[in-house]
Amino acid sequence: MPEVVYMQHPLIKHKITMLRQESTGTSEFRKLVEEIAMLMGYEALADLPLRDAEIRTPIEDTIQPVLDGKKPAVVPILRAGLGMVGGILALIPNAKVGHIGMYRDEETHKPHPYYCKLPPFIEDRLVLVVDPMLATGGSMIDAVAEIKKQGGRHIRCMCIVAAPDGVEAFTKAHPDVQLYVGVLDRCLNDRCYICPGLGDAGDRIFGTK
Ligand code: PRP
Ligand code: URA
Repeated sequence: MPEVVYMQHPLIKHKITMLRQESTGTSEFRKLVEEIAMLMGYEALADLPLRDAEIRTPIEDTIQPVLDGKKPAVVPILRAGLGMVGGILALIPNAKVGHIGMYRDEETHKPHPYYCKLPPFIEDRLVLVVDPMLATGGSMIDAVAEIKKQGGRHIRCMCIVAAPDGVEAFTKAHPDVQLYVGVLDRCLNDRCYICPGLGDAGDRIFGTK
């Protein structure tokens, strides 16, 4: 079973603290989410496969490494996951992008799927599922289940802030999927919001509060 990877880089820690602050406005929040996603993506993609390619420099012919295999797919969970896509595309500009629509019922806190469109040949791609928040874990658990149902086999998940309940539920539901977490918070409150957390990530990214 893959161990959950918790980010240790000081830049990620600092930017997450800025993200948490109530005084951080929409444009700064969006920028931070994208930057954190890029820094986390750098770690989560550190073992991408390479192959040798023949190229020509201005000096001579040479054999050098390039990325191998089908282009990875980044799959944000709507809405808030959309805020992380730009950060991953900054690393892999030609990655494919899928979308999974999921919202949490405000009363039951259970996820409800409303959209799913994945790139073709999903079974041959590294799939990076992104969502800033892992609270109960329900949304990420169902999103990964849907990707597996459609054939996805090489799946990794990235969230910026996680609650212990969400990490436990996710690793139990998908012990084969590597989870990358920016920071592990204390607990969930009675509305299943992460504490201390950062509030409603979707509302803060899109200014819909
Ligand atoms: C938030 C967040 C996750 C989910 C996490 O989305 O972006 O998708 O809640 O909670 P869970 O781990 O308990 O499932 P939300 O449902 O608020 O939708 P939104 O992104 O459209 O605001
Ligand atoms: N979704 C959010 O956006 N924030 C939380 O704290 C929990 C779920």
